[in-house]
Amino acid sequence: MSEEIAAPQPAAPAKRVQGGVATADVVLSAHAGRNAELFPRILALHVPPGAIIADVTYGQGVFWQQVPPGRYRLLPSDLATGTDCRALPHADASIDALVLDPPYMEGLLREKAETRGGLGSHVGLRAYYAAGGETPSAPGAGRWHQAVLDLYLAAAAEARRVLRDHGILIVKCQDEVSANRQELTHVQIVTGLAALGFYARDLFVLLRANRPGVARLKRQVHARKNHSYFLVFQKVPDGQEVARYRTRVLVPGAAPAGDPADRSG
Ligand SMILES: C[S@@+](CC[C@H](N)C(=O)[O-])C[C@H]1O[C@@H](n2cnc3c(N)ncnc32)[C@H](O)[C@@H]1O
Repeated sequence: MSEEIAAPQPAAPAKRVQGGVATADVVLSAHAGRNAELFPRILALHVPPGAIIADVTYGQGVFWQQVPPGRYRLLPSDLATGTDCRALPHADASIDALVLDPPYMEGLLREKAETRGGLGSHVGLRAYYAAGGETPSAPGAGRWHQAVLDLYLAAAAEARRVLRDHGILIVKCQDEVSANRQELTHVQIVTGLAALGFYARDLFVLLRANRPGVARLKRQVHARKNHSYFLVFQKVPDGQEVARYRTRVLVPGAAPAGDPADRSG
């Protein structure tokens, strides 16, 4: 009686196990609603708990209304309380994240109160966006829309000084039509900040829930804006190229968000 000897079988290849959990509960790039709803989600994704965050245009603190108290170490300041975001009292490389939300409409930055935007029915706008006062322009600064950009860029340069390497800069902005020109402020900021050494890590669109009112309209020329942006930048260390920069490091600590193998987002 012959005995059959089973030939050794090759070992089955190890099954690849996918990391992570299947979920639809992810932070999305567009949100219909209010600043106070979206802002905490942006922080949750890009700023680790315990981080030192300077909000340098704190205003009425609307952004922070739904942020759990004590999650971050918040340093609020504003021109209205005596601190210009272009000359901060913080030491070099001492801040983990910085929030910048200056007036985004050139009309609110005009030096003369009589011609400054936000009069009449827009008086609430003036109070909210420009603290009811004027933002002194730097020597040689531009006018009209250029004044808006100058403020963002000068504040970003100061942010770069106070942020640690890999620190996060969250910029709120809105595009505007100024002097009959379409000004894509968010594009101008991304370009300008790349030149200052910031990598554009993320972009969020905030859609107004209600329709903007129109007082008088002869002929519509441009789409009326009902969206704004939160741009999330990261400070690229000196000596590294913005165009080649990639990191999962977030400060404080080096805890990368998410699974290193995940290339989905
Ligand atoms: C849109 S509001 C900020 C609203 C704020 N994010 C909130 O959640 O309430 C703009 C703020 O920028 C402030 N501001 C204007 N120019 C400034 C400057 N050069 N430095 C610091 N703050 C400035 C105004 O006083 C105003 O409070």
